[in-house]
Amino acid sequence: PVPVWLDCDPGHDDTFAILLAAYHPGLKLLNISTVHGNASLDKTTNNALSVLAAIGKQHEVTVYPGAAHALERAPIHAPTDIHGESGLDGTELLPRPQTAADRSVSAVDAMAAALRATEPGTAFLVATGGLTNVGALFLKHPDLAAHIRGLSIMGGSIGGGFTPAVLGKVDGKERIGNYTPWAEFNILIDPEAAASLFENLVLAAKTTLIPLDLTHLVLATQEVNELLLYGPDAGVKEGRGKTDLRVMLVELLNFFAGTYRDAFGIVEGPPLHDPLAVAIALIGTEWEIPFYDFDPKSTAGERRHERFHVKVETEGSLEDALKGAKTGQTVATLLASGKEGVRIPRGLDIAMFWKVIEECVSRADEV
Ligand code: BDR
Ligand code: CA
Repeated sequence: PVPVWLDCDPGHDDTFAILLAAYHPGLKLLNISTVHGNASLDKTTNNALSVLAAIGKQHEVTVYPGAAHALERAPIHAPTDIHGESGLDGTELLPRPQTAADRSVSAVDAMAAALRATEPGTAFLVATGGLTNVGALFLKHPDLAAHIRGLSIMGGSIGGGFTPAVLGKVDGKERIGNYTPWAEFNILIDPEAAASLFENLVLAAKTTLIPLDLTHLVLATQEVNELLLYGPDAGVKEGRGKTDLRVMLVELLNFFAGTYRDAFGIVEGPPLHDPLAVAIALIGTEWEIPFYDFDPKSTAGERRHERFHVKVETEGSLEDALKGAKTGQTVATLLASGKEGVRIPRGLDIAMFWKVIEECVSRADEV
C-alpha cells in the first residue's frame, strides 16, 4: 500500500478524507496532523480524534496537533454557517474522543520522521486544510521534497478555461472562490505557506492540486446519500445496510448540504472536496480512480497531460480580500508540453469515486 500522511482540519469533507485514507486497501495511513481552519486547532484536533473513534481506528492512528495560526497571519476560521460551531456539526452519533492527541513532538517533526522512514519515492503527503503545517515541514526539512512520491493538496480555484466552479456571479462575472470571489478557503487562510510550496520547483513537479473547479463536480446528491446509507444493494432497503456509522455520515452530509444550499445556492448536494486529494495517492496503483489531465473541450487528438505553474496572490489582508482584493487567488499558467509542474486534474470517474467511498464505509462498518 502507498504510505499516506494526512494533514487536515475536520471538517465534514475531511471526515471522508480520513475514512478513505484509513480504509482503502491501497493506502497505509501513517498518521494524522491537524491544523487550524474549519474551526480552531483544538476543535479540529478533537474532531479528528472523534472521527477515528467513530470508524474504529483510534488505536491505530495517532493525531498530532499542528499550527493554530498561519505562518505570518492571525487565524481565520471558516464561518460557523459552513461546518457549524464545532467544525463538525449535524449529528448526535459522533463519539467523544477515546484517545488523546500526541503532543510529545511537534506535528512537523512527527510528519518528517514518518515520511523519512518510508522508502524513497513511495509516500504521499495529503493536505486538506490550510497549508501551514505542510509549508513549515518543507521549510524545516527541505530534503523531504526529493524523498516523497507526491504532495496532494485540496485548495485553490482556477476558473476561466477550467470547468467553472458553480459559485455564482459577482458584478456579472463568474465567481471562482468560495471564501472570497477570488480565493478558496484553504489557500486564503495561509497564502504564504501555499506560495512557498508552489515556489519549490522540486516539490511543484510532484504536486497535484485539487481546486474547487474539480471538487464542485463531485456533489453528494440524494442518490449518493442512499448509496452510503444502504450500500450498493439498491432496492433492498428494509433492514439492510443502515448502521449507526452510515447514519452518522449521511447526517454530516445533510448538514453540509444545508450550508452549501444556504451559503452558495447549490441545491443538488455539497461538494465533497477533501477525499479527492486522498484519491490522488492511488494513481499508478491497481486501485487507481481515473482522473484526467486535459481540457475536456480539446479534441481527442489534442488531449495531453497538462502541467501548470501556480502562483498564489499573497498581497493584502483578509479585510482587503473581503473588499475585493485577490489575496489567496491561485493563478495557474499552462506550461509547454513536456515541462514539469503542478498537476491539476480537470475531471474524474465520479461514479467510481463514490463506489470506492462506499466500500470504505462498508469496511469500517465491519470493525
Ligand atoms: C475546503 O475548505 C474547507 O472548508 C473544506 O474542508 C475544504 O478543505 C474547501 O474550500
Ligand atoms: Ca478541509
